[in-house]
Amino acid sequence: MQRRAGGSAANSQGDATARSNRSSAASIVARAGAGLVERLGLVPALRYLFEGLAQRSQLQISIDAVPEQRLPRRVETTLYHVAKEALHNVIKHARATAVRVTFQRKAGSISCLIRDNGVGFDPASISARPGEQGFGLIGMRERLRVVGGEMQINSLRESGRRAGAELSW
Ligand SMILES: Nc1ncnc2c1ncn2[C@@H]1O[C@H](COP(=O)(O)OP(=O)(O)OP(=O)(O)O)[C@@H](O)[C@H]1O
Ligand SMILES: [Mg+2]
Repeated sequence: MQRRAGGSAANSQGDATARSNRSSAASIVARAGAGLVERLGLVPALRYLFEGLAQRSQLQISIDAVPEQRLPRRVETTLYHVAKEALHNVIKHARATAVRVTFQRKAGSISCLIRDNGVGFDPASISARPGEQGFGLIGMRERLRVVGGEMQINSLRESGRRAGAELSW
């Protein structure tokens, strides 16, 4: 009896250690993500992220029209996080087989278009369901707003989704 009680205390201590290891691993990965964009730049950091996502999801991910020069740090970080959430949404909701991320650079601004070939959705019906909505799209919009950017979503049920972000500096 006593040994069992001791064993379960050890187990719960082990669980707590595993939980804390998991959460510190998660925070190391999160910090590495932020550092990665700063060290490598937006596109190489996205390529690294997408490689991992593609392996885990069987999704074909491509990046087009790569910005050649480094962008202001806040622009790179914002677009990294926006693209990351958009890709998570594609994996989670779209039932897509392919997604294409296209950057277009103009003087003092950049746009990023993310297009998947999945089921699509009606953005109007999402915003009409307050309380049931997730935080991804809200967070993307908010991140962009803070740095003076904006997001547009065009989607038709049968033709996948196009989410676009535009940022100026
Ligand atoms: N690429 C996509 N294809 C199809 N539906 C999508 C896509 N992206 C978003 N959606 C729809 O928009 C909804 C809102 O997305 P949002 O990221 O805000 O929330 P979530 O992904 O459900 O939750 P969270 O991001 O908080 O984990 C989703 O629940 C889904 O119905
Ligand atoms: Mg989401």
